[in-house]
Amino acid sequence: MTETHGTDLPDATGLAGRSVVVTGAASGIGRATALRFALAGARVLVADLDADGAADAVEEIGGTGGTALAVTGDLSEQAVVDRVVASAVETFGGLDVLVNNAGIMDRMSALGETADEEWERVLRVNLTAPFLLTRAALPHMLAAGRGSVVFTASEAGLRGGAAGAAYTAAKHGVTGLVKNLAVTYRAQGIRANAVAPGPTSTGIRVDAAPDAQGPPLIGGLIGATIGRLGSADEQAAAIVFLASDAASFVNGAVLPVDDGWSAV
Ligand SMILES: NC(=O)c1ccc[n+]([C@@H]2O[C@H](COP(=O)([O-])OP(=O)(O)OC[C@H]3O[C@@H](n4cnc5c(N)ncnc54)[C@H](O)[C@@H]3O)[C@@H](O)[C@H]2O)c1
Repeated sequence: MTETHGTDLPDATGLAGRSVVVTGAASGIGRATALRFALAGARVLVADLDADGAADAVEEIGGTGGTALAVTGDLSEQAVVDRVVASAVETFGGLDVLVNNAGIMDRMSALGETADEEWERVLRVNLTAPFLLTRAALPHMLAAGRGSVVFTASEAGLRGGAAGAAYTAAKHGVTGLVKNLAVTYRAQGIRANAVAPGPTSTGIRVDAAPDAQGPPLIGGLIGATIGRLGSADEQAAAIVFLASDAASFVNGAVLPVDDGWSAV
């Protein structure tokens, strides 16, 4: 047995020097995650629709002595996905970690009032984009014989009353994708996990239809049922753990990060 002594503990994360892509990293959970990866010594590609926010995130990481670069565009488009993966591979020499975090809310609409555009956009950004990104990243991870993919699912991927029909279906799809990916590629050294955040203070907006028949906005439930509002950094800490070698035996997990809401 190896003895370890306090601050002499070896770095168990294995993240130093790794090539990491974080989507939705201009804001909120993704931004906090990108910063944490950089502080752990990883090289981070910030992928986001929001060019100004992405540039800010890169500057913030640079200010801490970290290494980052931004690629901007709509990640639901194959060409943007290809650009993200190619940039990480060309600039950092590979792709070790992919964090599929970018996402949008639905309008809290019940199924019967969900318009085609709402359904298609929410599914496209929250489920299809992670599929496209992971498919593009896989050949690089398979060639390296290792890789870690972390998804930002949601409490709405675990239960039926946390969002409208489209977001709930998309996030349940994400948890299914995580488990399928985990089982399919574990023999090739690739792990897949997810966090399921409870309500977290970020830039995400709920453009709820005024007469939506879906579940009530969860803001009113904070307290006894939900607990408190989390911070983006509390989600980031869990994401970075799942991505790291400290979680080397964790595969196919969907980890609630929600102050116990899922336990109520
Ligand atoms: N905040 C919460 O309470 C909460 C709870 C559960 C799950 N989540 C999930 O967390 C993830 C991050 O959200 P957040 O709360 O940090 O929100 P946020 O709005 O602060 O950040 C989301 C980022 O994703 C980017 N983005 C959105 N669509 C994109 C697209 N098509 N292409 C590229 N970038 C795109 C946005 O520009 C933004 O920078 C999402 O998947 C969301 O569903 C959030």
